[in-house]
Amino acid sequence: MLSLSDSALACASASLGLAPGRVSIRYARRVSLAPQDDSFPQLLSVQDLCISFSARPAVRGICFGIAPGETLGLVGESGSGKSATALALLRLLPPGATAGGSARLALSADTADGADDLLRLPEEAVRRHRGASIAMIFQEPMTALNPVMTVGRQIGEALLAHAPGRSLFVRGGISRRQLRERVLRAMREVALADPERRIDDYPHQFSGGQRQRIMIAMALINKPRLLIADEPTTALDVTVQAQILDLLRGLKREHHLSMLFISHDLAVVAQVADRLAVMRRGEIVEQGEARQVLTRPRHEYTRQLLASAATMNTARDRPLATMLPAASPRRVS
Ligand SMILES: Nc1ncnc2c1ncn2[C@@H]1O[C@H](COP(=O)(O)OP(=O)(O)OP(=O)(O)O)[C@@H](O)[C@H]1O
Ligand SMILES: [Mg+2]
Repeated sequence: MLSLSDSALACASASLGLAPGRVSIRYARRVSLAPQDDSFPQLLSVQDLCISFSARPAVRGICFGIAPGETLGLVGESGSGKSATALALLRLLPPGATAGGSARLALSADTADGADDLLRLPEEAVRRHRGASIAMIFQEPMTALNPVMTVGRQIGEALLAHAPGRSLFVRGGISRRQLRERVLRAMREVALADPERRIDDYPHQFSGGQRQRIMIAMALINKPRLLIADEPTTALDVTVQAQILDLLRGLKREHHLSMLFISHDLAVVAQVADRLAVMRRGEIVEQGEARQVLTRPRHEYTRQLLASAATMNTARDRPLATMLPAASPRRVS
């Protein structure tokens, strides 16, 4: 088993931007590790979530909570159950998969009265939540965008899907001009350049980073309370990744959004999360305030993740710490 010296850990933490005076993440306002703590209002409260695919367990009794305006970073190796968790919350698991436990979404932040269990709601009610109170963005925006529909139309459709009148020109609906204005505003909000000119372009005419901005615009146009972002920057190069993370941080602040930010990359999660939950083999092995988890990890697996985290400054040709041999033989010339 890998064991890290304090200095190696300090190095890993520093490389994540945690050196004094260079801290770049916002930390949680509370230190409580217990999501079931009813004294602190939670927007989402997940208890004992278990997921199986064809009776094979993938997620085993995990618990976490997300407070209003808070970002929980869900981090862990490939196959640890991060996406399955997100899909279960949205009731988008494939046929044959089962989910147990509870996932209560409190729509009114100050009381428990509006609490609903997403795992038990009727399908129709869940459909109303999706894209409205809960929105999701994925790793590869191209697969989520329709290649034969202009981006303006797609952003507009996202709005209309939850608009009271559900279509143009009907009672309670919105006019074509109003819709176009709303779409342009959404494009400006995610800093897409020249929206008046680009609104009628197709997805393939945009770069990967721009496509992710379009997805974010679609996700946020109905002002959701919770945004689930599953590896939203993994397909992007580091510069664009930094821009998207910056955008998400700003939008989250502005809209007081709660966010479940999923990534296998601790260095990425560290830049956005207030709290962190570390997953391994279907379980959460450690969770807590981001700073605490990153600087004083309690679980050996978190220490390994920290040691292997690539950062913005990591040279691409440098092997990650966990891939280094235990002792490199001295080169004899
Ligand atoms: N549709 C499916 N059918 C059967 N098993 C699945 C399915 N989707 C996921 N699994 C299994 O569930 C477990 C968790 O998968 P999941 O996709 O949640 O991992 P992940 O943490 O998101 O990994 P990654 O970082 O690679 O995206 C894995 O063992 C995976 O093989
Ligand atoms: Mg995944």
